Amino acid sequence: MSFNLLKGKKGIIFGALNNQSIAWKIAEKCFEEGAQIVLTNAPVALRFGEINELAEKINAPVIPADVTSMEDLSNLFTKSLAHFGGPIDFVLHSVGMSMNVRKGNPYTNLDHELEHKTLDISAMSLHRVCQTAFQLDAMAEWGSIVSLSYIAAQRVFPDYSEMADTKALLESIARSFGYHYGLKKKVRINTISQSPTRTTAGSGVKGFEGFITYADKMSPLGNASAEDCANYCVTLFSDLTRMVTMQNLFHDGGFSFCGLSHAVIDQMEK
Ligand SMILES: NC(=O)c1ccc[n+]([C@@H]2O[C@H](COP(=O)([O-])OP(=O)(O)OC[C@H]3O[C@@H](n4cnc5c(N)ncnc54)[C@H](O)[C@@H]3O)[C@@H](O)[C@H]2O)c1
Repeated sequence: MSFNLLKGKKGIIFGALNNQSIAWKIAEKCFEEGAQIVLTNAPVALRFGEINELAEKINAPVIPADVTSMEDLSNLFTKSLAHFGGPIDFVLHSVGMSMNVRKGNPYTNLDHELEHKTLDISAMSLHRVCQTAFQLDAMAEWGSIVSLSYIAAQRVFPDYSEMADTKALLESIARSFGYHYGLKKKVRINTISQSPTRTTAGSGVKGFEGFITYADKMSPLGNASAEDCANYCVTLFSDLTRMVTMQNLFHDGGFSFCGLSHAVIDQMEK
């Protein structure tokens, strides 16, 4: 069912790798709600080719950009402005990569060169995206920028490793840039702290199946799916949430405020 919440809006979506990606579901939902979209991903990710399937479905051009390159980002925003023939109403930053988790390095034995890369790709890139848009004056007034986070920014999830620190930085950047962009142009910036979700990035975390099942049992509503996340994201891109900015918004079926649940107690007593 569509409510036309994004009718006439134009947005850039980072991070649709395959049809499991949260960004993929968000792109589909934004299109259903009437938005025009530009898709982007790292050149290496585009080589797998799956994004073209989505691009065709939602009639969106694909403009490559490595989020660690200011040159790529500047090219992306400049080309998107030309494509839309006007300013951008929303941006989804759905990008994550943990170099140390990929290498299997535990938190107590991180390779700090790799950690630099993780921070650059997964957190500083939000600053790079915001700064590029800010300096090109690319966003429309009351525009909306959303990035995806995880509750490991506030609580310890041991195998989430360096990504916990990365998400803490990401959320801080959303707050800090949200202040400056709010003043300049009433652009709002928020992070959505999403339930664990089966995707390429998510499944890289050690013990992911246990992780996702535990979260589901701890949440009175159960885990939020990628489709649920897409619906929530649409509201944040819409005009119905104009006064929400600089927030980390939990989208997790209640997990973040549950100390214990009957489902988990029952499991322990078995
Ligand atoms: N899956 C989960 O359990 C979960 C939970 C909470 C938050 N998140 C966050 O959601 C976001 C999206 O992840 P996902 O789970 O959909 O997985 P995904 O693997 O589908 O998406 C990650 C995306 O990041 C892109 N990327 C990596 N390096 C890049 C670079 N240098 N330049 C541009 N793009 C680059 C990848 O190509 C991919 O499209 C991430 O920030 C992730 O941390 C995921």
